[in-house]
Amino acid sequence: MKVIAVKDYQAMSVAAAQAVCSVVRANPGSALGLATGSSPLGMYQALAAMCKKKAISFRKVRTVNLDEYIGVPETDVHSYHYYMNKRLFSALDVVPKNCHLPNGMASQLDDECKRYDRLITELGGIDLQLLGIGQNGHIGFNEPGSPLDSGTHVVTLTASTRHANARFFSSIEDVPRQAITVGLATILKSREIMLLVSGAAKAETLARLLHMDCVDAGFPASALLKHPRVTLIADQAALAKAGAVVNHG
Ligand code: F6R
Repeated sequence: MKVIAVKDYQAMSVAAAQAVCSVVRANPGSALGLATGSSPLGMYQALAAMCKKKAISFRKVRTVNLDEYIGVPETDVHSYHYYMNKRLFSALDVVPKNCHLPNGMASQLDDECKRYDRLITELGGIDLQLLGIGQNGHIGFNEPGSPLDSGTHVVTLTASTRHANARFFSSIEDVPRQAITVGLATILKSREIMLLVSGAAKAETLARLLHMDCVDAGFPASALLKHPRVTLIADQAALAKAGAVVNHG
């Protein structure tokens, strides 16, 4: 894993946005795997600013999000559809039909998971997958114990994840209990992966990841050790407990 250590969230966001732009400039029709949550927000703002200045175009880009809550309509402010439209897509020159998320309102969820896997295959796979990490080591909504060979599937969210995401809802009871997520196998098939980690709350999680030398299903992000092209962009607060491992990048 290549480690890029930066000062703070803002620097992480700018570095990540520049990396995305490099990929898109090299291949304007790139398929980008996108995440929601706090980690990529600053990067999305930076991309929106660059697009507004016409420094980059996303007109030919295809996007595939990692996950969506089950039972939350697209128009609900808590859905990941809503987040992506508000925080990114509406500020870019993307073509809406090229922007994909799992449908958490599908009546046949298994069919929806299969459809999403087929879609990713039809897009030719993901060129650059962006990831955040949960404090319990989840990536996407692949919670501890998720199989390494999983495609898109339905997950029951852990108490830790629901607790972490409660900040976006009025109460913990309102946080959905299930989600659809792209699986670890699909994430690992991406040609390149960029993991964004910021803040003291992630320091222990990140130290654990950086000191692992083999994959442990109890800590899903360790699956990234199997991938040859992972770049971690992390700020000082997130790296505070990682020690010398950072120097080995
Ligand atoms: C979001 C996702 C999650 C988040 C993770 C970190 O689409 O897949 O894995 O990346 O929960 O969330 P933040 O960035 O809010 O700390």
